[in-house]
Amino acid sequence: MRPQPRNQAPLNTAIAPCARRRALLASLALGALPLSAFAQSAPAPVFGTPGKDAGWIPTPAPMVEGMLRMAGVSRDDLVVDLGSGDGRIPIFAAKAFGARGLGIELNRDLVAYSVETAKKEGVADRATFVNGDIFEVDFSQGSVISLFMPPQVNARLLPKILAMRPGTRIVSYVFAMEDWEPDDWVFFDNVQGMLWVVPARFEGSWRIQTEGPNPDQYEVTLTQRYQKINGHFLYGNTRLPLFDANVLADRLRFTLVVGERRFDFIGNHKGAALEGTLHVTGESLRRWSATRL
Ligand SMILES: C[S@@+](CC[C@H](N)C(=O)[O-])C[C@H]1O[C@@H](n2cnc3c(N)ncnc32)[C@H](O)[C@@H]1O
Repeated sequence: MRPQPRNQAPLNTAIAPCARRRALLASLALGALPLSAFAQSAPAPVFGTPGKDAGWIPTPAPMVEGMLRMAGVSRDDLVVDLGSGDGRIPIFAAKAFGARGLGIELNRDLVAYSVETAKKEGVADRATFVNGDIFEVDFSQGSVISLFMPPQVNARLLPKILAMRPGTRIVSYVFAMEDWEPDDWVFFDNVQGMLWVVPARFEGSWRIQTEGPNPDQYEVTLTQRYQKINGHFLYGNTRLPLFDANVLADRLRFTLVVGERRFDFIGNHKGAALEGTLHVTGESLRRWSATRL
């Protein structure tokens, strides 16, 4: 039987009241999800069932698809849903994208329902579920993490998420990750789903060595807040600001402007060093490397 929304059910206060109406709309969209209507022995999920850090309110099906598409999910991914509810996100990731899905969920009935649904949908080998607490179960192997949790839960998870492998994609329905600006957005019914890509760390001072016919040395100092980079360059004795500086996954880019010439640096980590390419206005591409000062 398809889970029925019961808007009179008590909502966990951890979900903001303004999310309640959206969540009700969300639950009405359930019918669009291809996980529908089976005779299942596990009890059908009840909309608004209270939970430890949030109650069960499902992400609407179009948003599940939109967020997983935005994250570029493929068969190479392990999609982990933190607080997986009726299992729709790991199951959809497995069915639609051939990915592996893992749901972590504290409510035993929801886990039982998810396991049965995964079997009925023919993806039990790729969509699995752990009955546990998201603050205790290790999810560090995930390459895509999905969340529909209140902001304070996202905030508690943030240090663990930022320590994940650079390039790990995080998607969250409705709620932000503290002051971390999303890399992308998707909307359904004027409600947002957001994407963040875990950035590699580049902050510190580096000595850059360029190759080519006129090899050069510079010093650059970088400060970093999430994917945003600030800093300056020491070019001889001159201190110059960086432009267009940012990180996407494990890739760093920044630009230096000297007179009418742009120096566009792109690079990434190679062990303890950095390596990359430099394009200077009017010159051919050259390579650069950097070591920490
Ligand atoms: C808002 S629902 C989201 C369900 C699903 N992720 C989705 O988007 O459809 C939150 C879910 O997290 C579960 N939950 C709450 N606190 C949890 C915790 N500490 N560990 C694991 N699951 C938790 C609830 O039981 C509920 O199913």
